[in-house]
Amino acid sequence: MISGPIRAEARKAVSHAPPSPLSAGKSPALSGRVRVPGDKSISHRALMLGAIATGRTRISGLLEAEDVLNTAGALQALGCPIRKEAMTWEVLGRGVGGLAEPAGDLDFGNSGTGTRLMMGLIAGHDMTVRLIGDASLSKRPMVRVLKPLMQMGVEVSNGATTLPLTMRGTLDLIPIAYTLPVASAQIKSAVLLAGLHAAGATTVIEPQATRDHTERMLRHFGAEVTTTGREGGRAITVRGDNELDGRDVKVPGDPSSAAFLAAAALIVPGSDVTIEGVLINPTRTGFYATLREMGADLRFLDEREEGGEPVADLCVRHSKLTGVRVPPERAPSMIDEYPVLACLAAYADGETRMEDLAELKVKESDRLAATAAGLVSNGVPAKVEGDTLIVAGGKGVRGGGTVATHLDHRIAMAFLTLGLGADRPVTVDDAGMIATSFPEFRGLMEGLGATFIDAETARR
Ligand code: S3P
Repeated sequence: MISGPIRAEARKAVSHAPPSPLSAGKSPALSGRVRVPGDKSISHRALMLGAIATGRTRISGLLEAEDVLNTAGALQALGCPIRKEAMTWEVLGRGVGGLAEPAGDLDFGNSGTGTRLMMGLIAGHDMTVRLIGDASLSKRPMVRVLKPLMQMGVEVSNGATTLPLTMRGTLDLIPIAYTLPVASAQIKSAVLLAGLHAAGATTVIEPQATRDHTERMLRHFGAEVTTTGREGGRAITVRGDNELDGRDVKVPGDPSSAAFLAAAALIVPGSDVTIEGVLINPTRTGFYATLREMGADLRFLDEREEGGEPVADLCVRHSKLTGVRVPPERAPSMIDEYPVLACLAAYADGETRMEDLAELKVKESDRLAATAAGLVSNGVPAKVEGDTLIVAGGKGVRGGGTVATHLDHRIAMAFLTLGLGADRPVTVDDAGMIATSFPEFRGLMEGLGATFIDAETARR
């Protein structure tokens, strides 16, 4: 049994630990077969749907990283027993509408997904909940989720727009039709999860397709969800009279984590790496489509379906790359991969233009600014023009810079990846946050042959 207090201690350890700098340096050819941990988006959803299903849900391959463990801790605090038996996580569902008011605050640490989806889940319960998070999460916009939830009947104390905030759910949620103002699976999912608790049909209209794990998993748990294509987007409808049945879920490897390993193999000459069992849901593979356009030797082998999601083994070999223009409509399918793409673009000949990236400014950090600054401090010409990030590649990567990570796990991993081919090591000011999404990052990379240097050793 993973108990609440134990998890609370673990969360404090990551969010409040002193910064731990780490450097990555020029590495010999990377090679091997590896498996990345489970997909973060699917892991959050498996726990949440398991919690409101009737009966037992058994999850294998759950991502055991801080963000997901915080979601598990929050669900436990809402009265849902969750435990780990051998390699499987077991959730004893409370049924739709069956969560209970927690005794204390729900702490989501660094996780926007955990916070926003949980708001949707709490919305249909007659209870008051205070949500808190770390310094990064406390700066992120919550109005985007609160606006539709308030239309449905949720109340928020003191007009708060960021964490910490106190929300009150209701048993009388009003079903709505809501058009997403930004392409965000988190907003879509929050409204659909609330819709499960509303009397009638709730519809989300998305002008651009975003990751569809919530819809897929709702169907897997037996709910009726309809998706219809529309001019310039699609409409997803869920009814409030659905009951969910506990199910087995197998979580595929996270393509956003695999992206760092794939980029590393492309950067380091002579590399040949296979990453097994990676999710290749088309709403998530924009990064890999871009790699192919850049000239990457990348193959999806043994394509198959696991737990309602498509997966494959990714085979990546070092390649000579060319800069590309990444079209704006691809952004939702690779939104978390722009920092590592920008680092990879430093090694590609010519310019890479990544357009229409306003959403990157409201992630765990302002990723447009953090990425450009990190590249420039390592001798790579890069700039932000409006919402476009431009990297001039192929001029060599001098390295030697220290990158400010701003409590952002993906900035830390992207720049450690940059360092693997640089003339001098690249240092990130805090590698501790990597534990929020990919605690195995360093071990897996070193297993392939990557060179990491602890700050202690570098100082000696
Ligand atoms: C996620 C959606 C994306 C992504 C995040 C995970 C999800 O956020 O950046 O890491 O699991 O729904 P937005 O929906 O805000 O774009």
